[in-house]
Amino acid sequence: MKKTKTLLFLLFALCSLSQCTTTEDEIYHIVTTVCEDAATGVTVNYHCSRSDSYVLVTQADDSTFRHAKKFKPVSRPWSTAGIENTSTESTFYTKERFVCHATLSGLEADSRYIYRIVAGRTRSDVRRFKTAGEKGAWNFVAFTDFQHRENPVTLPLIQTMKEIAGDPSLVVCSGDHIDVAGNEYEWTFLLDNAVFRDFVYAASPGDHAYWASDRTPDGHYPQYDKPHTFVNLFKFPDNGAASSPGSSYWFRYNNVLFVALDMHNSNLSAGPRFDDQAAWFAQTMDRLQGTYQYLVVLMHKSVFGSDRVDAAVARNIRPQWAPIFQKYGVDLVLSGHDHIYSRTYALDGDRRAEDPARGTFYLDMGSSGDKWRSPDESLVEGDALHARVIDLKASTQSCACNIEVDAREMHVTVYDQHAQVIDRFTTHPARFRKMN
Ligand SMILES: [Fe+2]
Repeated sequence: MKKTKTLLFLLFALCSLSQCTTTEDEIYHIVTTVCEDAATGVTVNYHCSRSDSYVLVTQADDSTFRHAKKFKPVSRPWSTAGIENTSTESTFYTKERFVCHATLSGLEADSRYIYRIVAGRTRSDVRRFKTAGEKGAWNFVAFTDFQHRENPVTLPLIQTMKEIAGDPSLVVCSGDHIDVAGNEYEWTFLLDNAVFRDFVYAASPGDHAYWASDRTPDGHYPQYDKPHTFVNLFKFPDNGAASSPGSSYWFRYNNVLFVALDMHNSNLSAGPRFDDQAAWFAQTMDRLQGTYQYLVVLMHKSVFGSDRVDAAVARNIRPQWAPIFQKYGVDLVLSGHDHIYSRTYALDGDRRAEDPARGTFYLDMGSSGDKWRSPDESLVEGDALHARVIDLKASTQSCACNIEVDAREMHVTVYDQHAQVIDRFTTHPARFRKMN
C-alpha cells in the first residue's frame, strides 16, 4: 500500500513538473507607472508571452485576492523588427511577446493596493503600490543615469533609498536607465529583480534611450529616431507634445505638478521636436495654473551642465528652456547626463535670483550607477551659477535624492550609495503659489 502511494505521488509530481515546464507562460518587465491623476489611477506595464493576460487588483489587506477586480490590459504584439538601426541579436528583435499595459482607474486616494498578473497557468508575484492623495507632508525619491549594465551599485542604491525614504510611494528618474536601449538584457538587469518594484514610477528618457545597438566597427553607436524600447516598457500619461508621444507628459501628485520632457538623442538639441515641446509646455502651464503648488521638471540633459560633456546644451537647450522655466516659476529641474554632480543656486533665468521667493534649482544628480566623470572649467563650485559640484569620478560616489514636500517648503537631500548626505537644499514655498 505504502509503495503504491509513493508511486502515485511520484507520478503526480512528474505530471505537475511537465505541465509547469511545457506550459509556463512568461510575464516580465513588470512596472507600475503614474497616471495623469496619481490619486485615482496607476498603469501596470509588462511584457507577456500570451495575448489573454489580465491583472487582478485589490486592497492591500485583502491578501487572498477574494475581492479582487479584474482589469484587461491593452495588449499588442511587438518587437524591434522593422525599426531603423535595430539590433538583430537583441531579444527585443528575436523574442515574440505582447506589450501590455492595464490602466487601473477608479482607485481610492491615499490607499494601498496589491495586484498580480495572470497569464494562462502563470501568476506573477504580488506587487504593491499606494495611490497619491495624502494630506500633509510626503516624500518621493529621484534617481538618474542608472546606465545599468549589471553594475554593482544601482540595485543596492535603490534599496538604500527605499529604506531612507521609508518605502516611498513615488520614484522618479531623469533618464539613461541603460547604456544601449536596444539591448534587452540591460533593461532586464534594471527591471526584473527584487528591488525595482512596489512603487509608482515616472521617468523622462535619456539620450541613451535612443541608442539602438552596440558600437559598430567604425566606432559609432547607431541611433533610433524615437525611444522605441522606452515607450514600450513604460506607458505614461497620453497628454504630451505631439512630437514626443509617451516620452513627454505631465502628472499631478499631491501638491506637485511634474512635467517630463524628452531631450532626444545624443546628436539633437534643437529643432522642431524641441520647439513643439516648448509650445506644449507653455500651453499646459497656462491651462493648469492654480492646480498645483510646486512645479518639478524631469529632463535628462542638464540646462546648466558641463560644456565638455555636451556643449550643445549650453548652446541650444539653455537659451530655449531657461526663460520658459523662469516665466512659469519652475521650482526644481531634475537632470543627469553629465555623470558629474552639480547643483545651481536658485536661478532667475540664467543668473542667481536676488529675491529669495523666486528662482529655479537645477540639479544634475550625476549618476545612480558607476559611470562617473570629473568636472571641467564650466562647472566650478561657487562660480556665478553653481552652489555645489562634486567630482564623482574622484570620489566614486553614486547619487540619489529623497525629496520631502510640505505646504511651505520642498527639502532636497542628496545621498551617496553609503547613505551619506552629500548635499542638501530647500526650495521655498512654491513662490507662495496658491492652489485653487
Ligand atoms: Fe548617462
